[in-house]
Amino acid sequence: MALRVNIAGLGTVGASLLQLLEGGQREGLAVSGISARSRSRDRGVDLSPYAWSDDPVSLAQADDAEVFVELIGGEDGVAKAAIETALRSGKHVVTANKALIAKHGLALAQLAEEMGVALRFEAAVAGGVPVVSGLRTGLSGSKILRLQGVLNGTCNFILAAMEGGASYADALAEAQRLGFAEADPSFDVGGIDAAQKLAILAAHAFGAMPPLTAIDPRGIDQVTPGDLSAARELGLRMKLVAAVSRTDDGLAARVAPALVPITSALDIGGGSENIVVVDAEPLGRVAFSGPGAGGGPTASAVLSDLTAISRGALGPAFGHPASSIDAAPKVAPDAS
Ligand code: HSE
Repeated sequence: MALRVNIAGLGTVGASLLQLLEGGQREGLAVSGISARSRSRDRGVDLSPYAWSDDPVSLAQADDAEVFVELIGGEDGVAKAAIETALRSGKHVVTANKALIAKHGLALAQLAEEMGVALRFEAAVAGGVPVVSGLRTGLSGSKILRLQGVLNGTCNFILAAMEGGASYADALAEAQRLGFAEADPSFDVGGIDAAQKLAILAAHAFGAMPPLTAIDPRGIDQVTPGDLSAARELGLRMKLVAAVSRTDDGLAARVAPALVPITSALDIGGGSENIVVVDAEPLGRVAFSGPGAGGGPTASAVLSDLTAISRGALGPAFGHPASSIDAAPKVAPDAS
């Protein structure tokens, strides 16, 4: 029997997810109910096959679904209330909400473990790039030493557009129009979004989740076109680089603009691309890269979580029992 799914939040990602699900049925999944702020807004998708709810928290505990998908956004408020309600009601939860997972993920993972259900958030990091499941399962046989990458599509897009002659304001407006940016784009350009994603990856890789204040992210909001052309003359390109590694007594972490050689693996394309380069033993170096933002890629990651749950993939949210993850590791600046 198909796993029944309720979805709260029909913005860029939610609407793309309904489009991907093609009428609500796919690969052992069936959408039952939906909820969003506006019922009448045109999203280019037919909502008539689904039961409508005005209240995401009621939808989260409704008996007509085994899985609740949270695409509302926001690190507290209704998104958190709905996820907690769904978990307490014994529902599996899938979310794309990296702000919420970075802040409350360990407590929510603990609750999911107590209830014997899955909490999944592949879409929270690097959009459609399967780096979360890659760390949770694919790389679980190796000891991870370091993660380094480009984790914010909006910044990547803006820096490339500015290098091509666009103004900062026009480049940001275009990233918003394309659906890459957060509802509050200062999270993107200030480095906060990348730091949230880095914290989530660190919990998987190192069993330690650095608070954002310890990462102390710097963004791209002070970068000028002159900075980019000076870099270009030296054969360099600016990227917002995030890095975290293990140290003797904790972690070293950093989110900041960095100049990378045009020949570097981190010199990815100028769209919403993300990349995560993982150094591990005995594996060596592995890279995950691809579209890191936007409706289609992010919805594809949500659907991958739903498919995994429908196939019975449970297990702890961060790959380790939540109680074993250090929520306050010592964090030094990454100097490399
Ligand atoms: N605002 C985010 C970004 C969306 O630009 O990368 C994907 O997490």
